[in-house]
Amino acid sequence: MDIPPSSSRPSTLNDSTLNKASDPFFEPYDREQIAYGDQPSAALSAYLQQVPRSGKALDLGAGAGRDTIALAKAGYDVLAVDLSDRGLQRIRQRAQKEQTSGKVQTLAVDVREVFMPEKTYDAIVATTVLDHIPLTDAVVLWDRMAKSLTDTGILYVQVHTTEDPGSDQSPGRESDAPVSETAGAVINYFSPNQLALWAVAAKSRLRILRYEECLEWDYTHGPEHLHGKAILLATRIGAHPPWYGQPAMFPRR
Ligand SMILES: C[S@@+](CC[C@H](N)C(=O)[O-])C[C@H]1O[C@@H](n2cnc3c(N)ncnc32)[C@H](O)[C@@H]1O
Repeated sequence: MDIPPSSSRPSTLNDSTLNKASDPFFEPYDREQIAYGDQPSAALSAYLQQVPRSGKALDLGAGAGRDTIALAKAGYDVLAVDLSDRGLQRIRQRAQKEQTSGKVQTLAVDVREVFMPEKTYDAIVATTVLDHIPLTDAVVLWDRMAKSLTDTGILYVQVHTTEDPGSDQSPGRESDAPVSETAGAVINYFSPNQLALWAVAAKSRLRILRYEECLEWDYTHGPEHLHGKAILLATRIGAHPPWYGQPAMFPRR
């Protein structure tokens, strides 16, 4: 896989050079029980089980790699991008354990700087990272993601919404539910339907396979807490993969 040109740091740092002090995710990824666990995002996982594919995948804000590893096991060559060197180190360890090292590359760079040529990626995943950058930057990144998808590619995106108790907007701010230990890193809570509207905008050229806004308890890191989330699975207009839904209503016997 070609590594895109960028101002990235090579992600092969050893323990002494990890950016511990400046990385808010260092400690969550340093734990024995790695934050966010090892289960891939549910809708992405359902898609990968139903639609075996190969090609190039990009995992933006890959963290410690639960989605990266699922994509690699499904057959994609994955480029995992994150600012957390500890997260990327965990991804390399997990890839080795799952015998998918040859299918995973890591890149320590800001997602806003990733080189994304048009019609290049067969899968683009951004699980809770568009909400970690300012809205104006997220809009630009979204456009680049949509353009970088191949004609049969899939896009999987998760963001925190204003329903999240960490949000400073209604209805989240009125909630007394417990807030995530890493909520401080979320700076851009999505309003109702916002992600869906981005997906149906003509210039995105996407077709929604699944969209949901929901509340979800998170037990994978720190004290249990609630999240408000928007979850999108989309493909290109004109692409019709064998997608039976999540869960499939009448699974084939
Ligand atoms: C909530 S975690 C999600 C991790 C992973 N996608 C998952 O679902 O397990 C958000 C991740 O985004 C990364 N991140 C935040 N802002 C970023 C940026 N501007 N560029 C690259 N990565 C970023 C963080 O380091 C963190 O690993």
